[in-house]
Amino acid sequence: MPKATAKPDDLIFQLRKARSASDLEPMLDALYGSHPDYARFRKDLDKALATAWKDRPADLKQLDLQRDLEPDWFQRADMAGYVFYIDRFAGTLKGVLDHLDYLQDLGVTYVHFMPCLKPREGDSDGGYSVMDYRQINPDYGTLDDFKAVATQLRERGISLCIDLVLNHTAKEHEWARAAAAGDKAAQDLYWMFDTPELPEAYSKTLVEVFPDNAPGNFTHYDFGKWVWTTFNEHQWDLNWTNPRVFLEITKIMLHLANTGVDVLRLDAVAFMWKRMGTRCQSEPEVHMILQALRACSRIAAPAVIHLEEAIVSPQEMLPYLGRGKHDGREGNLAYHNSLMVQFWSALATRDTRLMTHVLGTHFPDRLTNATYATYIRCHDDIGWAVTDEDAAAVGLNGPAHRAYLSDFYEGGFADSFAQGVLFQVNEATGDKRISGSFASLAGLEKGEPELALQRILMGHALIAAFGGIPLIYMGDELAMPNDYSYRNNPDHAHDSRWVHRPAMDWALAAKRHSGNSLSSQCFLGTQHILARRRATAGLHAAHPTTIVETGNAALFAVQRGAPTGPILCLFNFSNHWQHVSGGWLQRHGITHWHDALSDQIVTLHGDHLALPPYARVWLT
Ligand code: GLC
Repeated sequence: MPKATAKPDDLIFQLRKARSASDLEPMLDALYGSHPDYARFRKDLDKALATAWKDRPADLKQLDLQRDLEPDWFQRADMAGYVFYIDRFAGTLKGVLDHLDYLQDLGVTYVHFMPCLKPREGDSDGGYSVMDYRQINPDYGTLDDFKAVATQLRERGISLCIDLVLNHTAKEHEWARAAAAGDKAAQDLYWMFDTPELPEAYSKTLVEVFPDNAPGNFTHYDFGKWVWTTFNEHQWDLNWTNPRVFLEITKIMLHLANTGVDVLRLDAVAFMWKRMGTRCQSEPEVHMILQALRACSRIAAPAVIHLEEAIVSPQEMLPYLGRGKHDGREGNLAYHNSLMVQFWSALATRDTRLMTHVLGTHFPDRLTNATYATYIRCHDDIGWAVTDEDAAAVGLNGPAHRAYLSDFYEGGFADSFAQGVLFQVNEATGDKRISGSFASLAGLEKGEPELALQRILMGHALIAAFGGIPLIYMGDELAMPNDYSYRNNPDHAHDSRWVHRPAMDWALAAKRHSGNSLSSQCFLGTQHILARRRATAGLHAAHPTTIVETGNAALFAVQRGAPTGPILCLFNFSNHWQHVSGGWLQRHGITHWHDALSDQIVTLHGDHLALPPYARVWLT
């Protein structure tokens, strides 16, 4: 125990260290205990934690205390996020300051700046090929500009999320350059092989992330090594079996925390540990590393939480939010990829049975110290993460259903309302992913603007009510369509994800309050959803989320178990009217007949509640 006479600042650091010791130490022992440098590593890590705490600005230390007192701050109904690229939204960091009113008008309390650290030149995988973690992308501004934006956001009650890429660095990062120049210690930070045998052996069980433009998982270089490159050739996988990687990344993580960041999005975490004979995804050590990293943040920058990006199957995703021995100790947030995939699947088929099965079977009704990042679109493609078993459970054939969804969203069928673009077609596995903006995938380009609008608003109402932090992807609040101009940019043309990464249309945004255009109706509708979410405290993410069987394949129902009484959220995934009996609603706890979303009392027709195409209600 620290001495009670210690200076308050030291005392609190010691207490936090003690609080997290049982989270941190067993993980480090298990991961690195047998490494010859272990003792020195532990000393260096202690020093790094202490230094980061000493350097932490006073205002952030105050925020640390506040969040220690209010640990549910990120689970509350007033949290709503907005995701954008700085250059595409506002040109530069300074430009972002000019648009804070817009964000507040929409009702946003969290922003995710897409990768904003210094990337390599040219194609940088949208900034995920980082050359220097301690510098801001010079096209966006300086570190001082960044801190100024973070401060202003905080003053407005908006949390800031940025990316920290853990699996790889750019091959232009100083460590990678030193490794290529022959520095042995630097080579040990990566996965490098002198001969092709081991890469070939690992490759037998690996999947290809970018089979189209970056096939394989290893790259051979002139300096005589095979380097592990899971993603693109220019992204070199870090070797997390080396404690120095843990140490250096922790220093970077805490340095970023001290710039005023609230949420660190830990990128591509599933790939961080390699084991021969496996897919090298979501290995148990990944969760140990993530628990240890979270403990380090809780010691030296406890206001900061971790969002873990693992776009994997439901069963594989949940552990990122802490299960078993990691319960409540790993990620605070993880993307609810299944909710996103199931939204699109049910929208195409106008049938929610698979959605109800998957979301109702594989997910617990609540999580410890954690919640989901709920979203419908993001900067990435949509991969059809539906298992054969889940498909079979509702009478579907897995491969056929996945192929159907790709074809539907590519826009191939006569009855498809979508217009998307294929991404990374894998001839060997038949896997096809889809790019496209929410509006274009929802029907805007196919002459169904009114229905597209209703589909978008239903999606936003779903992610706002489900439980988690809803993330609105830039442009989706204005129903911005696909942008095909990426095909003229040599750095982007090979990557169809750029079709849904347009520049913000500020001319449209300027007319957002008029109400007489589709984009204005979309903005006002989304704004209304977020306002009603704020007004509905029962949507707090810690309250249970239970999927309810409706007996009607067109309807998806989720009940939020608020202590003040259940909130039953209904969504009509079809383009026909649907009816729900008043008795059924009563049996599910509806007594006030108040729709918290429209803020109106609902009236029954006969004994039925009538729901128009793509209706959404949050009944209490
Ligand atoms: C994540 C990002 C994706 C990127 C990949 C490699 O999945 O979301 O955009 O290509 O990581 O960093």
